[in-house]
Amino acid sequence: MHRVLLLPGDHIGPEIMAEARKVIDVLVAEFGFSVECETAHLGGCGVDAEGAPLPESTLRLAKASDAMLLGAVGGPEWDGIERELRPERGLLGIRAAMGLFANLRPAILFPELAAASSLRPEVVSDLNILIVRELTGGIYFGSPRGVEQRADGVREGFNTLRYDENEIRRIGEVAFAAAQRRGGQVCSVDKANVLESSELWREVMTDLASNYPDVTLSHMYVDNAAMQLVRAPKQFDVMVTGNLFGDILSDCAAMLTGSIGMLPSASLDEQGRGLYEPVHGSAPDISGQGVANPLATLLSLAMMLRHSLDEAALADHVEQAVRSVLQQGLRTADIAPQGTSAVGTRAMGDAVVEALRARAA
Ligand code: NAD
Ligand code: IPM
Ligand code: MN
Repeated sequence: MHRVLLLPGDHIGPEIMAEARKVIDVLVAEFGFSVECETAHLGGCGVDAEGAPLPESTLRLAKASDAMLLGAVGGPEWDGIERELRPERGLLGIRAAMGLFANLRPAILFPELAAASSLRPEVVSDLNILIVRELTGGIYFGSPRGVEQRADGVREGFNTLRYDENEIRRIGEVAFAAAQRRGGQVCSVDKANVLESSELWREVMTDLASNYPDVTLSHMYVDNAAMQLVRAPKQFDVMVTGNLFGDILSDCAAMLTGSIGMLPSASLDEQGRGLYEPVHGSAPDISGQGVANPLATLLSLAMMLRHSLDEAALADHVEQAVRSVLQQGLRTADIAPQGTSAVGTRAMGDAVVEALRARAA
């Protein structure tokens, strides 16, 4: 019996989580999936209900679970509150507390969505990139940090970018191991022409490469990498990078696949236990309308089945069901060609459930 913790979060989070729940139910009813799901607060909903973006009760349930599925957190109603209580701090807090240092963000183009990409079909067809983002270090977590008034009366905001060699090595190992199972190439993205932390990053990655003779390592500066991602994205196999660069590059890679509503992610600890979530945020601009694309969340569920629950066959079923609804021509607004009609969140979830039922039959 697998124990899964569901963290719907804020705004569209609960809307897309409801669709994941339906998919889990059909896996249980028709595929013999054995799971016990609990639900807990993370983000703004935690602040409102329990006074903290990462309530103690949530952390306890997280530690008792085999895997977690998150919708998304955040929203303008919490933007003005004290920094420690912001919804995003809840997400950062659970990543740190659970040791989820390895963030895998695959950007795969479903052939049916070639026209939804903002790039020409020939530039993105067959795209399959894996961004490996370091998730519990770097400028997101370095200290000192804060906003202070200096002696001259001027306020100053500051953050610190730090990486030690152990942090760099362990994320590098994840990237090299992934490349061995894929296309055999790692591109390490840094800013070593300016930043000392990147100088060390590059040195450690280069040393590590000697343990992986079957993988080719290249290095690229992050500004060039952003440009290359939209110029010729298929040159990449695995990209490995730090926390902030990975955050930015993965949103950029999302558009190559048609929409940020399509991109799943896994955040893993050293044992492979993880939190799974769509790359996108809580989309307050469309929340409550029932139009959000739930597929990134369903694909995150598939990643959870594969990476943390050892249910690769079920993961394949979910991914194939997603593929088949796209083949049927179903599109939420974010991936629908202009001037064509779109389905809502629920109809998309229902279609995936139907496709799964058909596969079980
Ligand atoms: P966002 O990803 O929420 O939205 C960016 C744009 O993409 C919006 O126009 C939105 O409507 C669209 N979009 C996002 N997901 C979509 C989906 N599933 N279907 C259709 N369209 C979708 O980014 P933002 O607007 O910069 O941030 C909103 C809030 O989300 C902020 O509070 C931010 O901190 C938070 N956030 C949370 C996470 C997370 O929980 N992992 C990630 C990113 C941002
Ligand atoms: C993401 C998000 C988070 C991040 C925020 C909400 C803390 O943008 O998961 O990509 O920056 O890591
Ligand atoms: Mn992000």
